[in-house]
Amino acid sequence: MADNVKPKVIAFIGSPRKGGNSELLTKELLKAAEQEGAETEAIRLVEYDLKPCDACLACRKTKKCKIDDDGEKLFDKVMEADGIVLATPVYFGSCSPQTKILIDRMGYLAKALGQPLNNKVGSALVVARRAGANFTLAEILFFFLINGMIVPGVSYWTVAYGRDKGEVLNDKEGVDTARELGRKLAWLTKLLKSKPTS
Ligand SMILES: Cc1cc2nc3c(=O)[nH]c(=O)nc-3n(C[C@H](O)[C@H](O)[C@H](O)COP(=O)(O)O)c2cc1C
Repeated sequence: MADNVKPKVIAFIGSPRKGGNSELLTKELLKAAEQEGAETEAIRLVEYDLKPCDACLACRKTKKCKIDDDGEKLFDKVMEADGIVLATPVYFGSCSPQTKILIDRMGYLAKALGQPLNNKVGSALVVARRAGANFTLAEILFFFLINGMIVPGVSYWTVAYGRDKGEVLNDKEGVDTARELGRKLAWLTKLLKSKPTS
């Protein structure tokens, strides 16, 4: 594998809580990915103006979303990345509203454009206090899979536990698993970037 290949991994953090558990866990993943040679960026979705999909279906014809907000900027970020991470807290057994809006908006536009996410690598991080983590993880991974994305596995599902800010760092196995995913993401995106498959 060429040493000069530097893949870009962009994480979209779906928690509205600054310095919260999803953000802390994401930083652990990104640090590990950087150590393996990836360039990384973290984006807190709440800092962007991102309105829900209004089902106008205009994008099917125009290949653009007509909602006047930061959706296009975020879609451009997704397209720029070799690997994307969606990190979310569990809210009533599902992902956060910010995460779901990104999924709906980029998902529908991607379908309108063909399959632009094809062969990008997709990873998810989920933080819960107690329950709903696996369902939420599956929700995100299913989104990646229906977009032709490649989903790497590690030694455990990438969920971690904590309630108050910072508590997730006490979940050693959860943090270790996130770091393992960061290393795997860097390795896989580097491999795919040096040997394009399509
Ligand atoms: C509106 C709301 C709903 C929540 N629902 C759940 C839930 O269904 N299951 C759970 O285990 N934790 C639930 N939690 C707890 C959060 O998932 C948990 O505190 C998590 O660490 C928050 O991550 P963050 O710091 O990144 O925001 C909920 C929290 C909020 C604010």
